[in-house]
Amino acid sequence: MKQQLENIKKVASDELKTIKSISDLEKFRVKYLGKKGELTDVLRGMGKLSNEERPVIGKLANEVRFFIEESIEERSKELAKEEQRQRIAREAIDITMPGKRKSLGTKHPLSIVMDEIKDVFIGMGYTIAEGPEVELDWYNFEALNTPPNHPARDVQDTFYITDNILLRTQTSPVQVRVMEKQKPPIRIICPGRVYRSDEVDATHSPIFHQVEGLVVDKGITMGDLIGTLKEFAKALFGKNTEIRLRPHHFPFTEPSAEVDVTCWTCGGSGCRVCKGEGWIEILGAGMVHPNVFRMSGIDPEVYSGFAFGIGVERTAMGRFNIDDMRLLYENDIRFLRQFK
Ligand code: PHE
Repeated sequence: MKQQLENIKKVASDELKTIKSISDLEKFRVKYLGKKGELTDVLRGMGKLSNEERPVIGKLANEVRFFIEESIEERSKELAKEEQRQRIAREAIDITMPGKRKSLGTKHPLSIVMDEIKDVFIGMGYTIAEGPEVELDWYNFEALNTPPNHPARDVQDTFYITDNILLRTQTSPVQVRVMEKQKPPIRIICPGRVYRSDEVDATHSPIFHQVEGLVVDKGITMGDLIGTLKEFAKALFGKNTEIRLRPHHFPFTEPSAEVDVTCWTCGGSGCRVCKGEGWIEILGAGMVHPNVFRMSGIDPEVYSGFAFGIGVERTAMGRFNIDDMRLLYENDIRFLRQFK
C-alpha cells in the first residue's frame, strides 16, 4: 500500500506538469481526490490493515493528499497568471495603426426646417404638443366638424385600420386633444408625421410632415393670425417675404384660407419654380370653427382662436430649392450633405 501511495504521488506530480488549463486541472482533482478518485480508493482499503500499519499508512496517505492539494493550488495560480499574461498580449493596442474614420451624417433638411419652425414659434411663446399617429376617427374627423360622408373626407385619402381607427391625415386632431385637456389661453404647435394614400410623385408622398398651430384666448382675431404667419414667413424665407391669403374651405375653421408666400426663387416676379405665379402655397389656416370649440368643451361665446397647418416638405423644398420631394426620402448621403 505504501508503494501504491508513493506511486500515486509520483504519477500525479508528473501529470500535473502537463496540465494547461483550469478545466483540465479540475478533471485532475477529481481523478485523484474525487469520491471515486485514486487516492480515495486507497484510503478506503485502510480498513483491512493491521493496527500497527494503519497509522503509518494513514499518515502517509494524508501527506500525499496534502501534497496533491498543494500542487493543485500552486498550478492553479500559475495557470491564472499565464492566462492573464496571454489576455494582456491579446488585448494590446497597436497605437501606430491608422485609425478608422467614422463618417458623420448631417441633419436631414426636414429636421433642419422642423427645428427652424419650432424655434420661431417657441420664440413667440408657443409650447409643443404631441398626439398619436394612429388616431381615432373622432379626433381626425368628427371632432373637427367633419362628420361621416362629409366631402372633405374624400380630399384626404385615408389609411383606415378599422372603421374608427386610422393613420392621422393631418396634425389637426392634436388641436382637439389639447383643447380637451387645457383651458385657454392656449398657444401650441404640434410638429408631426401624417399619412395619406397618395401616389408618390415630385410633390406627393404617402407619409409627410406638418406643423399644426393653435391659439385660443379671449379676443383673438384674424389680424393676429395674419401677423403671426407674416412673422413666420419672414423668419424662414427672409425679411422681404410677403404672404397672401386665398379664401378656402376647411370644415374646422371659418373663415378659412390657403396661405402663399412670395416665391423664394424669383421673389414674386414669376419663374419656373412658382410656375410663373410669383407665389407658393405652404399652409392652410383659419379661425377655429365654433362647432369645434363646442365639441372640445370650450365656449365659443367667450373664446376665439386661430389654427394653421404648415406643410413641412413644401417649406423645406422652398428653403433649400429642392425640386423633387422624393429626394427627401431616398437617404442619399450625397444629396443630404448639401444642407446645413
Ligand atoms: N389640416 C389642414 C390640412 O391638412 C390644414 C389646416 C390646419 C387648415 C389648421 C386650417 C387650420 O390640409
